[in-house]
Amino acid sequence: MEKPFPQILQAIADQKPTIGLILGSGLNSIADRINQALTIPYSDIPGFKVSTAPGHRGQLICGQLAGQSILAMQGRLHYYEGYDLTDVVYPIRLMHQLGIKTLIVSNAAGGINERFSVGDLMLITDHINFTGNNALIGPVAEGELRFPDMTYAYAPILQDKVRQAADRLKMPLQEGVYVATSGPSYETPAEIRAFRIWGGDAVGMSTIHEVTAANALQMQVIGISCIANMAAGILPDRLTEEDVLRAGKAVEEKFSNLIIETIKDLEG
Ligand code: 6GU
Repeated sequence: MEKPFPQILQAIADQKPTIGLILGSGLNSIADRINQALTIPYSDIPGFKVSTAPGHRGQLICGQLAGQSILAMQGRLHYYEGYDLTDVVYPIRLMHQLGIKTLIVSNAAGGINERFSVGDLMLITDHINFTGNNALIGPVAEGELRFPDMTYAYAPILQDKVRQAADRLKMPLQEGVYVATSGPSYETPAEIRAFRIWGGDAVGMSTIHEVTAANALQMQVIGISCIANMAAGILPDRLTEEDVLRAGKAVEEKFSNLIIETIKDLEG
């Protein structure tokens, strides 16, 4: 028999969430559109670490969005904060235990592709893990594959659903490859030129470990980046955290609309 959940998690399990949503830096506002929401600070959840990153609130929100039962993470843990990757992907394993089969991940990223502009949304079609680590190192966790295939890390069928949602909204949508670094420093211009040669379109410090864990659990993943700034060396400006958060704010509404339109079309 399965172990019963602690009471706090049973309350979430009772809502039978089917879609998990991770909200990246500055992309919090969609949480306000979740109905009959149950809000639980990470600090109340056994095993959960609490994020220190700016623009991250640190709570789970469970409720209805666009006719679906979803579990949103307002704020995530980052490798650069010093957490073990086991802690970074703990929420993914928890979502899986709660029965979630579809994961939507979002982030604020720097644009590498020179055709991108600040404020663009990018559908993630693939990624490059340049963090030098992998969340699955260690014993095989329950229900996970030892050597998960990453060919369809971002489910092609769900990518199509996002493209169709953007079409319906007449919203421009970029697409491309997300490169993840450990951070916390931004990249040098030489690193960005190298990533461009590798086929990278955007760069950030999150997402790929969660996506890797989700793939090991055979969850289907959608990834969306908000282009918060152009990466180093493209424009003369220096990169600041404030600019990243400000750009997040500016695209929050667009991002929420795209997510909601996509979710409508997912199977619950
Ligand atoms: Cl330019 N680089 C990284 N690693 N993360 C970012 C970023 C750049 N812009 C937003 N997040």
